[in-house]
Amino acid sequence: MKNYLYDITLKPFFFKLSPEDAHDLSKNLLSFADAMPGVFSILQEMFTYRSKRLEVNAFGIQFPNPLGMAAGFDKTGELYPFLARLGFGHVEVGTITGEEQPGNPKPRLFRYEEAESLVNRMGFNNPGALKAKKTIVSQKKTIPRGINAGKTKLVEPEHAVFDYTKTISELAPLSDYGVINISSPNTPGLRDFQELGAMKELVEGIRKELGGEFPIPMLIKFAPDLEEDQLRVLLDAALELRLDGVILTNTTIDKAKLQTKRQIETGGISGKALKDLSTQRIRTAYEHLQGRLPIIGVGGIFSGEDALEKILAGASLVQIYTGYIYKGPFLPFQILEYLDKFLQKNKVDKIERLVGMEKNFMRN
Ligand code: FNR
Repeated sequence: MKNYLYDITLKPFFFKLSPEDAHDLSKNLLSFADAMPGVFSILQEMFTYRSKRLEVNAFGIQFPNPLGMAAGFDKTGELYPFLARLGFGHVEVGTITGEEQPGNPKPRLFRYEEAESLVNRMGFNNPGALKAKKTIVSQKKTIPRGINAGKTKLVEPEHAVFDYTKTISELAPLSDYGVINISSPNTPGLRDFQELGAMKELVEGIRKELGGEFPIPMLIKFAPDLEEDQLRVLLDAALELRLDGVILTNTTIDKAKLQTKRQIETGGISGKALKDLSTQRIRTAYEHLQGRLPIIGVGGIFSGEDALEKILAGASLVQIYTGYIYKGPFLPFQILEYLDKFLQKNKVDKIERLVGMEKNFMRN
């Protein structure tokens, strides 16, 4: 019902605009609502689903619920205060790079409505570590904030360590966890860090620059396009490197996944077209890790059922981005309500008990 309201009111209007203009407009609407006394507290009550059963402890952090906003939605840090009051259990800010950069020329974000998917080649448009810090520093932190770090396009790969380190050292004091993003397809060469030797050198280099230890739990985000064997090798490396978790997955560059008659733009594919591939990668990772490292599952979650599928496959936490664009702002409430009802129906006291329990709960 609530989604239906979005479908007949805001969505037709937003979807007439280019995807980036729609994003900017929603940002302005949120600021406008925030400036009117009392409005946001009403919104917060409408959008927030609370239940003790949904609380999650992962990598030493307490999350009010398992659902977060994925990286890329709040590329500047400005939206955290709103998203924190719209039902999310965490927000991953970024990707932030060491230096400010404009990203790729527009248009760079494309809707494929027929496949409920997006293609983006944003290219890490972001204010850089120092400006992002200025934005974030005065914000009240109410739910966990992740900081996703990437490489500035113009920085050569051999200087990547310093670029990532700048973002992490500036923003870690304001964040609960960090992410080393080596999987976005729109920065030339970034995915090359998914080669074993390069990944080890990068992670060890950043840790060394930071004085020998990461100041906050540090995760790594992988692409869905890795072969399963390669993924297992990188997961072993993540354990060896004492990372605190993995995020699976970023967008795919496999155009065959996107069912459309239209020409497919260059970039990363997200949304429904990515869902099964990302779930498969989570399943493989969970079978391999057996709980030794927590997984954040992301890719094509559009409903409570989709979120549950990722948790049962092995995700301790889940994130959404494209689903939020297609389904609207009630999606977090709807997902969390579904998960809580599922727990109650199956007499399970905590969502954490469902992680990786696919075989016990299939088709329940
Ligand atoms: C993203 N994503 C992303 N990921 C990341 O680590 N850093 C980033 O800057 C971005 N930027 C970005 C922009 C846009 C427009 C989209 C659609 C996506 C990837 C995102 O975090 C997520 O991994 C994928 O989109 C899969 O999830 P969904 O969108 O299918 O729920």
